[in-house]
Amino acid sequence: MRVVQVPLGKRSYSILIGQELLARVGPQCRGLGLGTRCAVISDSNVAPLHAKPVIRSLARAGFEPALVCVPSGERSKFLKVIERCCDQLAAHRLERQSFIVALGGGVVGDLAGFLAATYLRGLAWVQVPTTLLAQVDSSVGGKVGVNLKAGKNLVGAFHQPRLVLCDLDALDSVPKREFRAGLAEVIKYGIIYDAPLFRRLERDMAKLLAREPDALAPVVARCCEIKAEVVAQDETESGRRAILNFGHTIGHALEAISGYGKYLHGEAIAIGQVAAARLSATRQGLSESEVERIRRLFVAVGLPTRLRLTSAQREKLVRAMQLDKKVSGGEIKFVLARRIGEVIWGQPVPTPLIERVLNHSAFRIPHSAF
Ligand SMILES: NC(=O)c1ccc[n+]([C@@H]2O[C@H](COP(=O)([O-])OP(=O)(O)OC[C@H]3O[C@@H](n4cnc5c(N)ncnc54)[C@H](O)[C@@H]3O)[C@@H](O)[C@H]2O)c1
Ligand SMILES: [Zn+2]
Repeated sequence: MRVVQVPLGKRSYSILIGQELLARVGPQCRGLGLGTRCAVISDSNVAPLHAKPVIRSLARAGFEPALVCVPSGERSKFLKVIERCCDQLAAHRLERQSFIVALGGGVVGDLAGFLAATYLRGLAWVQVPTTLLAQVDSSVGGKVGVNLKAGKNLVGAFHQPRLVLCDLDALDSVPKREFRAGLAEVIKYGIIYDAPLFRRLERDMAKLLAREPDALAPVVARCCEIKAEVVAQDETESGRRAILNFGHTIGHALEAISGYGKYLHGEAIAIGQVAAARLSATRQGLSESEVERIRRLFVAVGLPTRLRLTSAQREKLVRAMQLDKKVSGGEIKFVLARRIGEVIWGQPVPTPLIERVLNHSAFRIPHSAF
């Protein structure tokens, strides 16, 4: 088992990465000085597959767990669902010393974390992420929240978990498309922070796609370490944490204009990262050979890397980018790479250049997607 520390003073915690961890949630929680009653929040896909060992191990360790199950998918990240969950927490008589266990992907993590941040003005919580994206990204850093009709993640808080348990065995049941999408975030860490990680991904991609625990363990651990380091330097995203948004300016806009759900987040940021690499070549001198290595790695995963847009679609995409949170004074700011493993954030890029890069294309989004 690998252990990564998230160093945040009094709010520091450990991330454990290994196999057969679901059955050890109970004993792992024992060391945290928590109350007896707890709630395991999960979703309708994950609970039937993975809740049993978690509930059993909590009960055996002397806790009194209740299972709270929400429908799977982004549609559960809404205040209405939070209210229903709160009623269940009240029915189970959770008190200030009680705690919450989030068992699921990023949706469950964000929702359960928001519950933990707000129920009784804050409960302790433990993350048990079950998708690759959740293990390497959303479970680390303490950002929790829900969506509004007006946009994603508009209501939320920073609330760090007390412990994160990444069970690599849980990834076996993740749908193939979701797993590949998670790899887009993994590749991102190589580009923004760690050239040796990027080389390891180039070398071991077949084993990672086969979900071999021996290949996954060091990669998941390294991604958590990088995210922990970045978050520790800038917990509330006032500066450096922005590097985690490499590929996300175009990615988020693409998700927004094509209707959420058409592209998985990881697919949209794969396209966004390749476009950001091309912008980096023009603005920061990233070498053409490195742009090509980046593109090839996404292709090796089976992720989309290109778009062919009509000029109307391109305009729509640029407009969506201008609405993004990272825009100030009308200029669209990007995270750009100087080389693989080193990026700078807050780089303004003129709109015509963005359009030129978006034009560099190989496939057409069906018109119906807009
Ligand atoms: N808080 C953060 O810092 C942060 C960072 C990135 C993303 N997010 C959020 O994370 C969410 C996306 O997370 P996600 O990609 O994990 O999506 P998700 O939680 O919707 O999971 C994807 C799908 O896989 C299913 N699933 C999960 N684990 C499974 C398993 N082990 N076996 C079988 N099926 C499984 C889920 O039921 C769902 O249908 C978004 O809401 C996004 O906003 C948050
Ligand atoms: Zn992302």
